[in-house]
Amino acid sequence: MTEPLRIGIAGLGTVGAGVVKIVRQKANLLAARAGRPVAITAVSARTRDKDRGVSLNDYTWEDDPVALARRDDIDVFVELMGGSDGPAKAATEAAIATGKDVVTANKAMLAHHGQALAEAAEDAGRVLRFEAAVAGGIPVVKALTEGLAGNDVTRVMGVMNGTCNYILTRMQSAGLPYEAVFDEANSLGFLEADPTLDVGGIDAGHKLALLASVAFGTRVDFGSVELEGIEQITIADIRHAADMGFRIKLLGVSQMTGRGLEQRMSPCLVPENSPLGQLEGGTNMCVLEGDMVEQVVLRGPGAGEGPTASAVMADVIDIARGTRLSTFGQSAATLSHARPAKAATPAPFYLRMALDDKPGALAKVATVLGEAGISIDRMRQYRHDDSTAPVLIVTHKTTRNALDSALAAMSRLDVVDGTPVALRIETV
Ligand code: HSE
Repeated sequence: MTEPLRIGIAGLGTVGAGVVKIVRQKANLLAARAGRPVAITAVSARTRDKDRGVSLNDYTWEDDPVALARRDDIDVFVELMGGSDGPAKAATEAAIATGKDVVTANKAMLAHHGQALAEAAEDAGRVLRFEAAVAGGIPVVKALTEGLAGNDVTRVMGVMNGTCNYILTRMQSAGLPYEAVFDEANSLGFLEADPTLDVGGIDAGHKLALLASVAFGTRVDFGSVELEGIEQITIADIRHAADMGFRIKLLGVSQMTGRGLEQRMSPCLVPENSPLGQLEGGTNMCVLEGDMVEQVVLRGPGAGEGPTASAVMADVIDIARGTRLSTFGQSAATLSHARPAKAATPAPFYLRMALDDKPGALAKVATVLGEAGISIDRMRQYRHDDSTAPVLIVTHKTTRNALDSALAAMSRLDVVDGTPVALRIETV
């Protein structure tokens, strides 16, 4: 019989346990698809005595993930610990240095060290794969690396943090404020240990930086992702946006422009009847656009045991089959340094502000916008009982720079109460 592919798994949380279950329960299917059996040799986690819903008795236990990575009886090191540095990175480096292929779900590690790790793997003749790191069960890395390999990718977009999409859609459906839904998401166990990773857009920003690298053949540049979270989104914004036919999504967009690579992860308005607008709850969606294919939309679960383990196994089976793809779709040595283009692409914007209800207030705001070269597309003032009037403005396409200068001028007016909310409207 063909030699089995021997894997060692570091990290036995939800995803790790899911991978163990697939290997145990689908042995025949995996062997048929890979052309050889897939076997777990050794495992490692912080705590040994914990009920994970699956037996680990057949596997050697290692307390130290680096020791696991160095073992002679594994071919593939499966890194499911998480964390950008520390044990995950040390163990990944040890695995590569001792001749193992690596499969990881660790977006933070690759967002910060992806280039160095991919180069190390390449120099050692090993592969480093990360399907599970981006959008959970959606095979988006494979779609870009393989299915769309014949395209010049023009734009990638995605809702890639299920927790944020849950919070935003729940605010809308239940009419609840952000804080209440945040607490609810927390009690349901949706939030990362550090919730800022979710609601601050960082987790989704990591994923976008990885996708951009695969899409555009550029080195991962997480530091250039323009990041904005959802903490400032109010139920009023959600209602007003809905009133105008939009939904608010934490949306990642990356595109190559004449001025360089644009990468932004921020709350955006999208048309309510678009695929992104209709995305509910914790589901993720990736929209891939290429010159030949036009547009491909992938929708699926972005987290959870089964979906994420499914993505890990896709990479493991590739390795078992002998399919040896570069980490970011081409040799790491050939990935280019993209010039970051901050807010390069013009777009319409949604503005919400509280205006003093006195003569000439609206005229002053309109003048400021006009002086910045920004044209108003639609405007609405809501009925109110107090001395400030809620005003919504949808602009025609403008640049973020022009908008920022208008917002700065508005802050100097004596009629605008507080800071206006400004959200980009993304055409999809
Ligand atoms: N916390 C992420 C999400 C899943 O809510 O989508 C892990 O990246």
